[in-house]
Parts: sequence; C-alpha cells; structure tokens
Amino acid sequence: MSRLAPVVIDNGTGFTKMGFAGNNDPSFIQPTVIATRDGGSAGSGAPSVPSKPSFLNSSASSNLASKRGIEDLDFYIGDEAVANSKTYALNYPIRHGQIDNWDHMERYWEQSIFKYLRCEPEDHSFLLTEPPLNPPENRENTAEIMFESFNVQGLYIAVQAVLALAASWTSSKVSEQTLTGTVIDSGDGVTHVIPVAEGYVIGSSIKSVPIAGRDLTSFVQNLLRERGENMIPAEDSLTVAQRIKEQYSYVCPDIVKEFKKYDQEGDKYFKKYEGVHSVTGKPYSVDVGFERFLAPEIFFNPEIASSDYLTPLPEVVDTVVQTSPIDVRRGLYKNIVLSGGSTMFENFGKRLQRDIKRIADTRIKRSEVLSGGKMQATPMEVNVITHKKQRYAVWFGGSLLASTGEFHSYCHTKAEYDEVGPSIARHNRVFGTVG
Ligand SMILES: Nc1ncnc2c1ncn2[C@@H]1O[C@H](COP(=O)(O)OP(=O)(O)OP(=O)(O)O)[C@@H](O)[C@H]1O
Ligand SMILES: [Mg+2]
Repeated sequence: MSRLAPVVIDNGTGFTKMGFAGNNDPSFIQPTVIATRDGGSAGSGAPSVPSKPSFLNSSASSNLASKRGIEDLDFYIGDEAVANSKTYALNYPIRHGQIDNWDHMERYWEQSIFKYLRCEPEDHSFLLTEPPLNPPENRENTAEIMFESFNVQGLYIAVQAVLALAASWTSSKVSEQTLTGTVIDSGDGVTHVIPVAEGYVIGSSIKSVPIAGRDLTSFVQNLLRERGENMIPAEDSLTVAQRIKEQYSYVCPDIVKEFKKYDQEGDKYFKKYEGVHSVTGKPYSVDVGFERFLAPEIFFNPEIASSDYLTPLPEVVDTVVQTSPIDVRRGLYKNIVLSGGSTMFENFGKRLQRDIKRIADTRIKRSEVLSGGKMQATPMEVNVITHKKQRYAVWFGGSLLASTGEFHSYCHTKAEYDEVGPSIARHNRVFGTVG
C-alpha cells in the first residue's frame, strides 16, 4: 500500500514550522499567532471538541465549520494574522513552549492543514512536537483534537529535543547516529538545556535560561535608542532591531579585543542598515556598531543586559551534564547539539565549545591536584555540533524520522484511538536509533 507523506508540524512559542516528511525544509514558517474578531477566547484549559467521537461526520472540515457556525471561520493565522492586527485581535496560543489556549490552537491547526498544507488529514499520519516535561494531559488534548476534529490517520508526538538530536546527524562532525547528547534549544522566548540518553530525556537535569531571541532583540533596540538612532520610526523599531540582530550579530572570542578592533579599524566593522519607513515609504539608514557582538554576548555574560540572571550558558550546560547519571556524562559532553533560531549566530558553537571545555578541564585538573598527583584522569572530549538545519532543527529531525519505514508502526492509529481513547497518547515509543 502506498502511503502519503506524513505531515510534520512543530509549533513553537514564536514560530510554527510545517511541511511534509522527507522534505529538507518546512513548507511554511509562520508566527504562532491567530487573529480573531472577538479578541478574548472562551476556551482555555480543556479542548472544545465534543466528547462523542465526531468521526461519524463525513469530513473533518465541515465538522469544524458546522460546530462553530460560519462566522467562526473569520480568522487568520501567521503572517496574515499579523497583517490584520489593526482590525482583529492577536492571540498567541502557545506560552513558554506549551499550548495555553486549546480553542485557538485547534483553529490554528485547522488553517495550517486546510489552508496552508492543503491536505486531507484522513490520508496522512501526523508528527507533532512537544516541549520537555509536557504534562500528559496536554498530549491527550492534542490527540483528541487530532483524531476527533481532524480525523487524522495516525499520530506521533515527539519530544523536541530528541528530534533536534536526529537533525544533527546531517553534520559532518557526527560519526554515529546516536540519540544520546545534550541539546541547547534557544528560540524566541526561552533557552533550554536538555540531556537525552538513548532517546529519553533526563527530566531532573533539564535547566532553562531566561535569555533567548526576544531578549537579544530588545537589547539591540535599547542600544539603538540610547545612541540616538532617531531615524527609525517608532512603529518599526522592534522589527529593525530584530533584523539587525539576525543579519549582523556574531559571537566574538573576547569582547575587550573586539572593542579595540572597532576603534582601530572602524570601517571594517561598523555597518549600515538600510530601511524603508513602513508607513511613508521613505528610505532611511541606521549605523550598526557594538551591538553586533554585544547582543549574543549576553548568553556568555548575562550581566551585560540585566542583574536578575547571572549564570553564563556554558556553566549551565556543564551543570546539566554534571547532574546527570555518571555513566552518560561522557556521551553528553561529546555530543552537544544546537537547535533553534537563537543558536544561529556565527561562532556561537565555537565559543560554547571553548568555554565548556575550559570548565571541564579545570575540574579534571582540580581533582588531579586533590589526589596528590596519584590520579590521572582522561581528558574530556567536548564537542558542540553545528549544522545547516539548526534554524529548524526540530522540524527537520521530525521530517527525517517520519520518513523512515518504521514511523508508521510507532504511530497511534485512528482505530487504536477509537478503542482506547485519548489516554493512548500519554506514551509515545522512542525510535530512530540505528541498531
Ligand atoms: N540568523 C539568525 N541569527 C540570530 N537569531 C535568529 C536568526 N534567525 C532567527 N533568529 C531568532 O530566532 C528566534 C526564533 O527562533 P525559533 O523559531 O527557534 O523559536 P520558537 O521555536 O518559536 O520559540 P521557542 O523555542 O522559544 O518556543 C527569533 O528571536 C529570531 O529573531
Ligand atoms: Mg522551538
């Protein structure tokens, strides 16, 4: 029997990546935002789907339309939602990685499937993603919507960090296809450091860092404002700061030396950002300076931006590995994998690797000294893996795994769901390792 390619959707706090398994890139990358007429929402905690299975209806889309009435189809998602923000209210259904508003999420999926991917969910299996430590009830709610509202053929909910590990197999630095490693996932809202051993997240050792893309953007925005770059129209200032960050920022090895370089060879390092006023259409230009290296430096020296959080990211990574079971620590240092938009800065991986290695080496030296020279520890291999798919690593890992022959045997099917109910989605078996 020939099967249609599984659908792969990674819903992030800031951006949703969606497309079909086997492809190299998602078909759509859109903000995870929905624009509705009413603004507020009725549904929060529980999904709004009826408890009686609705698969008896002939088509999932007509089911949704009849359930809500036609006026409920008056909404937009993603870029179209943002474009209509003057007349509609914007709602963000995901907070800190977790689905927060099930009614909005269901409608977001509805348009993702029927308007963007344009597929019949009955003919496809779906791979969706979840953040680490997602409560099982959330998985059940997702299954209920997927099977009852959309009548999907099969469903697999994968942990984002595990997919990010699979995505790193495309790097030339990776010699074996392992699902053991430390994932640094930094998106828009939060950065997570997640140890994974043989496909299972070591939940008790996960750490999160309250610094991610959004904070770096507002840091750049502040620097520009303080310097008096007053050509930037107020309504564009956040977008401009984000673009400057994404286009020009990089990680340097040493900020003192970097400041010197700008002093001595300014022409080489200062840049100009050319913008167009979003309302009047008038062109303007902005000088880009120290924010180029200072913005991502916040990961390594958080005190630059605030006094609330002070632990450098390399130290957090080291602590995560050190609090994991001793027999997996070597594997965790050896395979540190990057995932998410905010890991895209040039030299981000290189600096992390250097700083983590320094911390690990110092610890080894100290224990050698403490043993009075009797103990000679083997040096620790520290590798930070960078690769081309980092921006959408979670989606790409999903695309890889869902295109393997075994994927369908790991999916929960519609028949199984009808027999067991939503609790079937509490558990998803790990797969993907070779051997
Ligand atoms: N080339 C780039 N350099 C630096 N930052 C980038 C680049 N491209 C995108 N970003 C930043 O990455 C962030 C979005 O990343 P991503 O799509 O991984 O987040 P998300 O999955 O929606 O959020 P989260 O993982 O927090 O739930 C934004 O802050 C964006 O500005
Ligand atoms: Mg993400």
